[in-house]
Amino acid sequence: MCGIIGGTGLDEVLPVLVEGLRRLEYRGYDSAGVALADGGSIWRVRVANGTNSVAELAGVARPPSKGSRAGIAHTRWATHGRPSVENAHPHLDCTGRIALVHNGIVENHLSLAEALTDRGHVLQSATDTEVLVHLIEEEVARGLALVEAVRSVLATVRGSLAIAVISADDPETIVAARRATPLIVGLRDHAAFLASDIPALLGQTRQLYVLDDDEVAELRPGALRVLTLAGAEVEPRALEVAWSLESAQKGGFDDFMSKEIREQPDAVANTLLDRLGPDGSLAFDDAELSAEELRSVDKVCIIACGSSHHAAMVAKYAVEHWARLPVEVDIASEFRYRDPVLDARTLAVGVSQSGETLDTLVAMREARNSGARLIAVSNVVDSSMAREAQAALYTHAGPEVGVAATKTFLAQLVALELLALMLAEVRGTLSHAEVSGWLSKLHEVPGLVREAIRRSEDVDAVAKALADARDFFYLGRHVGFPVALEGALKLKELAYLRAEGYPAGELKHGPIALIEPGAVVVAVATRNRLWEKLCSNVQEVASRGATVVVIADDGDHETAALADHVLWVPHADPLISPLVDVVPLQLLAYRLARLHGHDPDRPRNLAKVVTVE
Ligand code: AGP
Repeated sequence: MCGIIGGTGLDEVLPVLVEGLRRLEYRGYDSAGVALADGGSIWRVRVANGTNSVAELAGVARPPSKGSRAGIAHTRWATHGRPSVENAHPHLDCTGRIALVHNGIVENHLSLAEALTDRGHVLQSATDTEVLVHLIEEEVARGLALVEAVRSVLATVRGSLAIAVISADDPETIVAARRATPLIVGLRDHAAFLASDIPALLGQTRQLYVLDDDEVAELRPGALRVLTLAGAEVEPRALEVAWSLESAQKGGFDDFMSKEIREQPDAVANTLLDRLGPDGSLAFDDAELSAEELRSVDKVCIIACGSSHHAAMVAKYAVEHWARLPVEVDIASEFRYRDPVLDARTLAVGVSQSGETLDTLVAMREARNSGARLIAVSNVVDSSMAREAQAALYTHAGPEVGVAATKTFLAQLVALELLALMLAEVRGTLSHAEVSGWLSKLHEVPGLVREAIRRSEDVDAVAKALADARDFFYLGRHVGFPVALEGALKLKELAYLRAEGYPAGELKHGPIALIEPGAVVVAVATRNRLWEKLCSNVQEVASRGATVVVIADDGDHETAALADHVLWVPHADPLISPLVDVVPLQLLAYRLARLHGHDPDRPRNLAKVVTVE
């Protein structure tokens, strides 16, 4: 997820662009850049300074003259190509007279880049985006106006995009286009604007319009023309905005956590995007591990903390079931003190949304020193962990502002299940057809998660009924156990309530002594191979006076009959069910936090990234 902004018809466009980037930093901040159509050429400045990129850009960007006309700017959250000046947007075509910024993912960028190189283009970056500006260059060279050139290119590109393009040959015009990624446009007096999101423009105008998929907009000073891909002119859809700036940055939600829970379908879909290499097999992002090396692996160690550790626990089931490889899952802060037995045939997988958690980073170094091969699963391209691993599998959840992991947890589950399928594919324990079958099931997950999120009012009702409860047990079996742990962690870190996650079969070995009237037991009871045993465990606690909440498959009234409250979820295959079953638990923790008067974005005592041991 990145942020783009553009403006034309302004006395000084640069300050408007920089202020807009500042208001879009919650969408990404590893690098930033600006380009202006200025005096017959394109003037461009880019910086890559992590979270200070926009501030640094504001400090260094000094256009040659005040005469600049149209301008575009970008703040980046890297998905393809590490954070660097070369990969920062805007990107220029070969002539240096066309500049482009992009938010989204060009799925067929590899084949497009190869064809462009064959036709003599020189690509300067490792990004998927750059192919777009060279394709537009070719259409302009054929004599098309900029807006027609963009329309023509959209027909050949697959993937999600919100783009803005300027040309030195038409210095007052900006052409924008949208497909699956948000883009709004605005007008004021003799000016026109575009941006990824409302906050960037609230300081300029409230006369805003939303572009719909495959619409192309031509912005000139005080004028806006919107075309369909076929070239028909359409009325732009007006956007009524009553939000404050802060509320707008949260997408109108009360907090970032609510927004990020609802971004989960996209986080899953974007993490699944573009995963097939040129030979049609599953591919890493920055791969230096060959299929032969993966085939030689005889053990997998997955190392992580917190929610990432729970994702690792789910991955254990998937890797052992699909790839028939033994998997050890370790809490990073314990890993290196157990004197682990590792060698060159061990695959160590570090899971960390930030890629900077010191416990996990140090554990991965320990694994490398023991000769293991390293893979990083991270939400931050070129994070410390990704840089130190031999291969990276990036989650594409976009920046997660809320301290509690939600969309990055689901994205990690997807990335780890992709890794399990990769291992199964190279080891031949699953056929190509079986791998394709599982990929199809994973592609259904965004719809299932969206449906689970849609039922948030049911969760609110249960939260209200439990508002006075103080003791919570979360039970699960098989893949339901890590989901139970994640649900308990969310409740602890957000509502500050005592919550323990347990494998349901373990209760009778002691913890059941704690069950008494007033205790709440939340059971992840969607159907897996241990469902019947789980139901027996639920009856054990219910008979001792616990208040029981079950997460149950739609229509499973047999399970529902055991509980005081039911949170229904769409059915999914057991190995995929954690992606769906965790959603009501996230919502339950969120709502109880709110009922107890806590700010879910800033839970006490916690930091988003833990860079201390
Ligand atoms: C989860 O909600 C917490 N924010 C925390 O447990 C987190 O998962 C843990 O600190 C690991 O962070 P990482 O994924 O960035 O390594």
